[in-house]
Amino acid sequence: MNRKAVVKGVGHYLPKRVVENAEFEETLETSDEWIRARTGIERRHISAPDETTSFMGTKAAQAALAMAGADIKDVDAIILATSTADHTFPSAATMVQQGLGMNHGFAFDVQAVCAGFVYALTTAKSMIESGQANSVMVIGAEMFSKLMDWTDRGTCVLFGDGAGALYLEAETDTDRGILSSQLASDGQYKDILFVDGGVSMQTTGHLRMQGKEVFRHAVEKLSDTAVSSLADAGLTPADVTWVVPHQANRRILEGVSKRLKIPMDQFIVTVQDHGNTSAASIPLALARGAAEGRFKPGDVLVIGAIGGGLAWGTAVLRW
Ligand code: UT7
Repeated sequence: MNRKAVVKGVGHYLPKRVVENAEFEETLETSDEWIRARTGIERRHISAPDETTSFMGTKAAQAALAMAGADIKDVDAIILATSTADHTFPSAATMVQQGLGMNHGFAFDVQAVCAGFVYALTTAKSMIESGQANSVMVIGAEMFSKLMDWTDRGTCVLFGDGAGALYLEAETDTDRGILSSQLASDGQYKDILFVDGGVSMQTTGHLRMQGKEVFRHAVEKLSDTAVSSLADAGLTPADVTWVVPHQANRRILEGVSKRLKIPMDQFIVTVQDHGNTSAASIPLALARGAAEGRFKPGDVLVIGAIGGGLAWGTAVLRW
């Protein structure tokens, strides 16, 4: 029997506080105009102390379950993509498990920075196809605001907080579901995007990035893996209905659009409202696309992301 991981529900949570670009003009040598022109970002959500990664992840998962009409008893596993778990351990996933009142199954975090959601979804796909799980809640949840150096205008204006969740169930003999995925990483680029703290230093640290370098890799690697994961599914860019990419910079998306020859009006773009929410950005964009009724059954969606590591990946799914 041909088992597939099929999307049953999508949900999201965004912190209540919204920070417009203009707020940064008070403390940094920057402008709303620069941020909009160079990134497409207009605002981002910044979490309050009680809006932690596990809190936001729990809310997003509850919304995905509600959309699916499913109960927590139906969920076999939680896979949560994050680089900003509430604590060094336990995993944010087990904290979400508790938040959802789930005492069965298993939960774990995946850490592949901005590509984390694609890695988590690929893990869920494998577990569902192999029969290890019948249903998986895949969450991307982040509070990157906690990693910002608020004096560094080259990074702190770019990121935001939030969470999104996709609830997947096994179905047999269907043409829907996750059709293919490709993951890649290359540790030689670790110094162009990293956090200068961690367990070995007994600090949390701050995000450091050579933006131009990351930008260059992003356009090329996202386009190339999109083409090869589409080929794995027996498809080409011409078959794509929607591209739902990681939201780091509108100019990166325009570069990918050009290389794939898929027009920007087939891209779900949320970077203007969310900034870069790392592993949360794709499920947040999926939640918005679904809420706006853009995805129709049978639509081919390509998701793709790149971030620290470098780690990147794409997946193809039929809605
Ligand atoms: O999710 C993980 C993946 N991350 C990404 O994909 C991010 C990829 N990179 C980018 O999005 C862009 O490279 C940035 C938005 C980070 C920067 O844009 P850029 O066009 O590559 O600018 P730049 O770094 O070359 O900087 C150009 C100038 C610099 O000034 P000088 O050296 O030319 O005098 C910067 O200091 O812009 C300056 N600058 C700013 N000016 C006003 C940098 N940040 C700001 C700012 N406001 N916020």
